[in-house]
Amino acid sequence: MQNNTFPTLFVGQSIQKLAEIDSTNNYLKLMLSNYGPPANGTVIMADHQTAGRGQQGSKWLAPAKKNLTLSFFLKTDFVLAIDQFNLNKAVSLAVYDCLTHFLTEDCKIKWPNDIYVGNKKIAGILIENRVRGKRLKDSIIGIGLNVNQNDFYNVNHATSMFEVMNNEMNREKVLEVLCVALEERYLQLKGCKNFDKEYLINLFRFNIPSLFKCNEDLFEGKIIDVDDTGRLVIESGGTKRSFNIKEVSFVL
Ligand code: BTN
Repeated sequence: MQNNTFPTLFVGQSIQKLAEIDSTNNYLKLMLSNYGPPANGTVIMADHQTAGRGQQGSKWLAPAKKNLTLSFFLKTDFVLAIDQFNLNKAVSLAVYDCLTHFLTEDCKIKWPNDIYVGNKKIAGILIENRVRGKRLKDSIIGIGLNVNQNDFYNVNHATSMFEVMNNEMNREKVLEVLCVALEERYLQLKGCKNFDKEYLINLFRFNIPSLFKCNEDLFEGKIIDVDDTGRLVIESGGTKRSFNIKEVSFVL
């Protein structure tokens, strides 16, 4: 569906809205293999996902018609594969920008790309890249943003815009602001903007003594950096330790 109402050049100019699908990321993947790449910035969104996927093989569960569950197709052939964490920074900052536009409470980016309000997750991101040679080719940017969900059943540490603002939000408006924010960050990425500082400033528990878990060991430390490959750098007991995504978790 063509959408000429959003003030963007390409992100969200083509939107396909589905009532129900397993996963919008899967749907886009299938589109790519069956029909080839759609227009840059194409959005696939679903009112309900029956098998939404999260990071590291987890599930992403969201009630129908309450939240935003969507995937963006972006051409990312200007990003070197070794620099792909820059794309992660750009997308995290875009979701952060979007939420900051609406919320009166502070948001933070929880490494590597969750968005938190206080100690609760409000949005998650699943980026799936295709690589060609030394560069990315294109990327599926899956975003789950909790907009109007008001019951989290027994899920701890989850919240929504509704819960934070005590007010029902307009999902279409949130989508528009998200498209604008993503386009802006994408163009900055293309223009080789360095996101390091902004990413660190807005990082959950940056420079704050916190408890972490590595394998079964608990240790105290503080985040002092995220290196170019996206590893989390924690200072603990006078030494610097760097961790990949599966190697460390926060104890909240
Ligand atoms: C995470 O925090 O674990 C990432 C969650 C990503 C969820 C979104 S919802 C839209 C898109 N389709 C999926 O199957 N997953 C992403």
